[in-house]
Amino acid sequence: MHVIGSFFVTWLLGLIIGLHSSAVFSQSAKITSPDKITGHQPVVSELGMVVSQEAIASQIGADILEAGGNAIDAAVATGFALAVTLPRAGNLGGGGFMMVYLAEENKTIAIDYREMSPMSASKNMFLDQNGDVDNNKARFSAQSSGVPGTVAGLLYALENYGSLSVSEVLKPAIKLASQGFKINHDLSDSLRLKSKRLQKHAASKKYFYKAEGEYYLPGELLIQTDLTSTLKRISEQGSSGFYKGKTAELIVQQMEHSGGLISLQDLANYKVVEREPVCGSYHQYSLCAMPPPSSGGIHLIQMLNILENVDLKRMGHNSVGYLHHLIEAMRSAYADRSLYLGDPDFTPVPIKKLVDKTYAKSLSKQINPHKARRSNDVYPGLDSWIASQPNESEETTHYSTWDNQGNIVSNTYTLNFAYGSGIAVEGAGFLLNNEMDDFSAKPGSANGYGLTGGAANAIEPKKRPLSSMTPTILFDRNNKPIMVTGTPGGSTIITIVLQMILNTTEFNMSIAEATAAARLHHQWLPDTVSFEDGILNQRLDLLAKMGHKISPDSRVLGSTQSIALKGKRLEGSADYRRQGAAAISQKH
Ligand code: DON
Repeated sequence: MHVIGSFFVTWLLGLIIGLHSSAVFSQSAKITSPDKITGHQPVVSELGMVVSQEAIASQIGADILEAGGNAIDAAVATGFALAVTLPRAGNLGGGGFMMVYLAEENKTIAIDYREMSPMSASKNMFLDQNGDVDNNKARFSAQSSGVPGTVAGLLYALENYGSLSVSEVLKPAIKLASQGFKINHDLSDSLRLKSKRLQKHAASKKYFYKAEGEYYLPGELLIQTDLTSTLKRISEQGSSGFYKGKTAELIVQQMEHSGGLISLQDLANYKVVEREPVCGSYHQYSLCAMPPPSSGGIHLIQMLNILENVDLKRMGHNSVGYLHHLIEAMRSAYADRSLYLGDPDFTPVPIKKLVDKTYAKSLSKQINPHKARRSNDVYPGLDSWIASQPNESEETTHYSTWDNQGNIVSNTYTLNFAYGSGIAVEGAGFLLNNEMDDFSAKPGSANGYGLTGGAANAIEPKKRPLSSMTPTILFDRNNKPIMVTGTPGGSTIITIVLQMILNTTEFNMSIAEATAAARLHHQWLPDTVSFEDGILNQRLDLLAKMGHKISPDSRVLGSTQSIALKGKRLEGSADYRRQGAAAISQKH
């Protein structure tokens, strides 16, 4: 972590100096070719913008804006491009959530394209003979895959809110897959890191490694022929090019080969759901985020509601008092998450009560300003929780787009773990998710992110697993959008978005400063505070004296890709925490 720590300090200094230099504040990004994009510089522009985890994909989105597409067209093109250039999280074989703000109607929409469990899935499918959860099966087997929603979701957004054709938005992704793109350091490192898991499966080995399983080095070309064919089928036939015909058959063949459950019928039955966003307020601001089956919007608003009862500004950013109140608000929210949240099509979720300001006030009264609570006292009875968590790298990806007309997209999608189940579909060129692990495989047992749950999130056929993904749009007192953000990070997603909002609203930080500021996380269970380098050791010591259990090591929390409106200009900030991200604006 020391390397990251010193990188952080150097970067932050660079940023602060950079923020005052006119070069950084040029009208738009000076990009000559995607190869030369190093990313992470904040970008300011009066024109539309795309911020994503991978520079070529951001450039593709910006090009679509330049060509007259709107924010939704740009988001769909970026989503398909990331499926080529960021295979660990960009995907065709996963799912996600998209928030869309339509400027003309002043309306926000929530598109749910989360994976659905196959019809033959059942409550105890991940339990072994002793009734214990078989984590390997839940996370790394073909049965860990839910029915993918990404293709249906992106095309739903395009058809209903975009302006370009399917073939126009898919063209850049097809070109990248067929002609190849130069592997960057990030992808090269990540494929090397995950080679053991991926190389176990013949198709994954073939698609992401050279002959004999050799690694691709930065600068080498990755050509994806089978993925090209799949993308072409989607381009020609729309959703049916994925959920029916050849692609569907290849997915089912892969299931049969690896013992998975997804059938042709499951694929044909997949449904995108447009939902009412969950909206709330924080002082003079308002915000809209994803409703269930994501827990993100509810608990983001719930934590803001709890925190509205104290004067955070007076306490000071990342002061001991501030951090203490954040942790306690997080503790309360995640305790509720474990009990009440699940797929609303199966379980009634008390959304209104959970985001009620009076309820939040009662929770805030339970916070002792001088002393940490124990999580078991906040919600007793889950002492069977399993403390051990797998050391799995977290990979989801968020991107944000904003066009000249003021339309906005906040999109988070994922395969769950990096590279999902690790199993690619032979002949189709893409990886499958392991989202079934986001269900509660057994009451009280932890998923890959240490999150516990119960009946509301139990496995049932056609149900969507509970998520933490929190694509969010923030509005000012006049209901004008001022920020779009979101992040990967599994269970930490909601608390990271919370801190982005507090940094910008309470502490008036620019989007770049808000992104750079050190983050902290608590999720009720395990009763441990995770923190980033940059939070002063003395403050952590004081928090420990108040009774908080501080994790022994720092960790990196999330990778936000955000855009804020300042006056007439958009400010884009790609998170420095992971390599390869870039904010790119239109040039004209
Ligand atoms: O939906 C969820 O909450 C998880 N599957 C997200 C996983 C994730 O964020 C991994 N990346 N960092």
